[in-house]
Amino acid sequence: MVRKLVILGAQWGDEGKGKIVDLLSENFEITVRYQGGSNAGHTVLVNNSKFILHILPTGILHSHVTGVIAQGMVVDLDVLDSELTDLEKKGILYRNRLYISDRVHLVMPYHKLLDRLFEKKKGIGTTLRGIGPAYMFKFGRKGIRMVDLEDEKRFHSLVEENVAFVKDICEKVFCESHDLDVEKIFENTLVKYYKYKDMVCDVSRFLLEAEKSMLFEGAQGTMLDVDMGTYPYVTSSNSSALGLSNGTGLPPKFFADAYMIGVAKAYTTRVGGGPFPTELTGEEGEKLRIAGGEYGSTTGRPRRCGWLDLVALKYAVRVNSLDGLILTKLDVLDSFEEIKVCVAYEYEGSKIDYFPSSAETLKRIEPVYETLKGWLKNTKGIKTPKDLPAEAENYIRFIEEFTGVPVIMLSTGPRREEFLWLRELPVKEVKFL
Ligand code: GDP
Ligand code: IMO
Ligand code: MG
Repeated sequence: MVRKLVILGAQWGDEGKGKIVDLLSENFEITVRYQGGSNAGHTVLVNNSKFILHILPTGILHSHVTGVIAQGMVVDLDVLDSELTDLEKKGILYRNRLYISDRVHLVMPYHKLLDRLFEKKKGIGTTLRGIGPAYMFKFGRKGIRMVDLEDEKRFHSLVEENVAFVKDICEKVFCESHDLDVEKIFENTLVKYYKYKDMVCDVSRFLLEAEKSMLFEGAQGTMLDVDMGTYPYVTSSNSSALGLSNGTGLPPKFFADAYMIGVAKAYTTRVGGGPFPTELTGEEGEKLRIAGGEYGSTTGRPRRCGWLDLVALKYAVRVNSLDGLILTKLDVLDSFEEIKVCVAYEYEGSKIDYFPSSAETLKRIEPVYETLKGWLKNTKGIKTPKDLPAEAENYIRFIEEFTGVPVIMLSTGPRREEFLWLRELPVKEVKFL
């Protein structure tokens, strides 16, 4: 019985983590989100209902699961409120099974304003959810944490200071003046806070003492990690396994016996700016976008599409020390006669087999492809490995051999029941790397 499972995006986000976390939450008592905020959009299709979760841990859809919003997240109380209201409307009761860390930082309206202004100047294509500015305030020690709302007077003065600071930036850097009303911001935030105050607690202590099975739900993906990703075209948190300890407040040793599983699409997508070595800008890219319904779950933007980049995926395996992969959206490749996979990069006339640290280098490399035969058969919704076409099996073997880790599960459609196990989780040895 697995007690600790970490599900991480192994590419540039939107790998299908929500669908996977939802179906695996069945076997866990606690599900934890620990970084990012409402930039995430995790889609789940259950019966005839579609849920897109931005802040809430996806496991909350199961009535036996306790959901946890841990300290590494940045929380927009308006989004939290609308998500919880939506759950209520759909008949999902969450009271007494949702905890929010008193250490989370709040995304305030002026963070969203700054996100828009920064994007206008030298944008990277953010989701405009105020994530970057909220983390800037956090690390610049100007942030407001949930625990600060306990003392209204103190909270009021923090909002005052923040608003004065943001107005200065607007006027002096952007030559724009913006109407930021301290009292309105103060009151609206408190109204939302009092609605959910009973859920706020010291989450790191709760988790450490819980002695329950836990699933940790990563948001974004390894290549969007602020340190390990394609900087500066990244998000502002550690969205790889590196974010687990600081995101939860649990000591690194807590994760020594956790299973680390990466979710990867059978091809690659990216939304927003930044290098994307295997991007297909022509007809094939459009075919992938249409077949995969590749439009952002949070912003609705068309996602950029391309072939599977195994150099990047192998890098994600290394960064996260993955025990295995879950491959999603295999069905999207059903109608491709030939499928390419990137097995190396060419940079200034030489072949390289590693993932460069510099986005500028990445922009100049060319992918080196191997071409595999497509299966031209339907894999959507198949439930047993024996129904897999030989060419699809071959595709999976190729990925396993290249990355050095097993593909343990396939997702063959967006619905909760559309998946099949290929292997059991490998026995977990706690080893020194
Ligand atoms: P996440 O951010 O990683 O949770 O992924 P998103 O929810 O943003 O995007 C994944 C999209 O693919 C969603 O629309 C899912 O409903 C859909 N999806 C997930 N798994 C599969 C699959 O195996 N096949 C197909 N066709 N769609 C899938
Ligand atoms: P999930 O959890 C895909 C991208 C944005 C942008 C960059 C920075 O659904 O996989 P931000 O708003 O975070 O400052 O934007 O990161 N991005 C995502 N792309 N999936 C996501 O989340 C993303 N969250 C942020 O498009 O390029
Ligand atoms: Mg998403």
